[in-house]
Amino acid sequence: MISKILIIGACGQIGSELTNRLRLELGTENVIASDIRENNPELVASGPFEIIDAKSLKQIKHCIKKHNVDTVYLMAALLSATGEKFPQKAWNLNTTSLLNVLNLAKDKVISKVFWPSSIAVFGPTTPKINTPQRTIMEPTTVYGITKQVGERWCEYYHNNYDVDVRSIRYPGIISWKTLPGGGTTDYAIDIFHKAINEGHYDCFLTEYTALPMMFMDDAVKATLDIMNANPEDVKIRSSYNLSAISFTPKQLATQIAKQLPEFTISYTPDFRQKIANSWPNSIDDTAARQDWYWEHDYDLEAITNEMLLQLGEKAIS
Ligand code: SER
Repeated sequence: MISKILIIGACGQIGSELTNRLRLELGTENVIASDIRENNPELVASGPFEIIDAKSLKQIKHCIKKHNVDTVYLMAALLSATGEKFPQKAWNLNTTSLLNVLNLAKDKVISKVFWPSSIAVFGPTTPKINTPQRTIMEPTTVYGITKQVGERWCEYYHNNYDVDVRSIRYPGIISWKTLPGGGTTDYAIDIFHKAINEGHYDCFLTEYTALPMMFMDDAVKATLDIMNANPEDVKIRSSYNLSAISFTPKQLATQIAKQLPEFTISYTPDFRQKIANSWPNSIDDTAARQDWYWEHDYDLEAITNEMLLQLGEKAIS
């Protein structure tokens, strides 16, 4: 029997690309997109779409019954920078939505859940280089707190209620199709838009702020890989460290300047610097590579080439 999927938060940066990919693989009618608003006209027009507030158990349950859904990807969340502006809102959305979905899995209304965690689960006391899977976790952002508590709930529901929940700790995700919203790692996307349109970027992080990053295609691949893995291979049921590359704003700017020699960058760190300082520089994802054979494809050069190509064509057309 073919799986029927519901993506909550489908209009967002990762949700929209995940929806497109799953529709290609499973058939459009088998992938229900949902979001609190019709934020992405192309996606809304491309297949089944429902308005869902992820905080509403009733709305999620209604949609699941209506479409006979068995698997939920919960992609709705307030990210790190927005979370610091609206702490209560971030807590409410990020934790209520997860418990809604986990409870539906506990009650066997659905059989499988994907929920993303983040490098934001780590904090200033975490070892920064090659951060291990299991280590000190004292996040200092609301977003990080919601991800940490979420990881504990995922493991708890798996251990106590046999819920098949799978999760990865995404690094910063770089993509060109939709604009990101409210993340600290988003500078690595803004920089490409500004490089192409204005030739200059004023970065909100310092030049030496190294953060773990990944291209969207790799992030989607990792998500599908863990969801398609044999249940017994998914040994960690909190969330897996996941890594591709790591770079500083200066390294990214240098890579961009190889193709756009006129490009210049300046640095005016703001409140997001403190968030970035609290996160790892690089991540050890040996467990993901061993347990479900994770491998990334895109290095810094490949990401830069692809971003400049795609956004350059968009700017012309
Ligand atoms: N990319 C996210 C952020 O910057 C981290 O998960 O908030």
